[in-house]
Amino acid sequence: MPAATSKLDQWIDELALIGGTGDRVNRFAWTPELLAASQWLFARLHELGLVAEIDAAGNVVGRWVSGAGPAVLVGSHLDTVPDGGRFDGALGVLSALEAIRRLKAEGFQPRRPLWIAAFNDEEGARFSTTMFGSAAFVGEDLSGLRARVGIDGVPLKEAMRQATFDFAKVPTARAIDLVGCYLELHIEQGPRMEAEGLSAAVVTGIVGVRGYRVTLRGQTNHAGTTPMEERRDALAGASRVVLALRDAALSAGDITANVGRIEIEPGGTNVVPGEVVFFIDVRAADRQRFVALDGLVLSTVTAAATAERLTADIEPTHEHPPTMMDAELQRLLGEEMAAAGLVWGSMSSGAAHDAQVLARHVPAGMLFVPSHGGSSHAPEEFTASEQREPGVGILTNVLRDLCSRSGSDYARG
Ligand code: GLV
Ligand code: MN
Ligand code: MN
Repeated sequence: MPAATSKLDQWIDELALIGGTGDRVNRFAWTPELLAASQWLFARLHELGLVAEIDAAGNVVGRWVSGAGPAVLVGSHLDTVPDGGRFDGALGVLSALEAIRRLKAEGFQPRRPLWIAAFNDEEGARFSTTMFGSAAFVGEDLSGLRARVGIDGVPLKEAMRQATFDFAKVPTARAIDLVGCYLELHIEQGPRMEAEGLSAAVVTGIVGVRGYRVTLRGQTNHAGTTPMEERRDALAGASRVVLALRDAALSAGDITANVGRIEIEPGGTNVVPGEVVFFIDVRAADRQRFVALDGLVLSTVTAAATAERLTADIEPTHEHPPTMMDAELQRLLGEEMAAAGLVWGSMSSGAAHDAQVLARHVPAGMLFVPSHGGSSHAPEEFTASEQREPGVGILTNVLRDLCSRSGSDYARG
């Protein structure tokens, strides 16, 4: 199907204006902006003749009811980071929509159900939850999040209530038992594909990620009269943590560490900061390194608190171990890329994805398309139409292939 007949460009532009200005997009869990994007998708699913629902966890699910057996599920997410771009997650959902549109247009009849999902709250920007929707979809226990409070001070339960959802009903979003396998197209979010001239890439595995909310408490006092050696400056402690984690990651070489959000109390230019809350994101692709990250964070925060005479609270916010993608789906994706004559490769992902959660329950596969300039989680995020098309074509072909097989063939059963 020539790209000229694709709806993708139009859909990307339309969606980017929901919670966004075109480039800079803000859609967070349970906000009117993300709910509007979900409604927009709901309407597109209806137009394609799919059975659409928004489940109790806020996931938008469209079902092409056809054939028998476990469904092939394809999807990604519509929520964003603060001031995010137009493509992270959205391109995966819209490519899946376009693939289904093409399959319908060519008169294809799936021999098994084909489902599409836009998972809620993949990024965790508001509640540091991350992959809330996909975790609910696979039936994982999220009751521990009951007391979680968002960065805007609104409790998760209340945010859900305001959005007309009910936290107690989240377990009813479980639908994994009807799914055979999962596929996700995503932008690479790094520079490698462009540098190597790759049109598409098979994802081999996804990095493990841990998140923490840290509170350091010292003593609020006067900036001019408190002797330097007597201060208990919480921001000085946080600064130690930021630099120590960065140094640890630099010297390890195979881990990353990031502090991307910090709040200072009381926040006066002439006041010694008495309390600081900040969020740590640490990652490793290797399982042993991933396990060791917990100790690294604990010892780094403890050392900084001791040095500055502070108290420290460390609350783990989320945890997703390193995850391999299914070998058979990797093979299938690679075969399709080779058959299409693409310059393609295989690579691991330094970004976390819903595929990581799905892979804990069913075979999961991912493919990447290039990110222009390697830019992501930023308004500059861009993947040109000609950079998208090879991946969309591969996704369409793999879905056609998987849905041409009888229900028990792949996978489950
Ligand atoms: C999601 O984009 C992540 O990598 O945190
Ligand atoms: Mn992201
Ligand atoms: Mn994403």
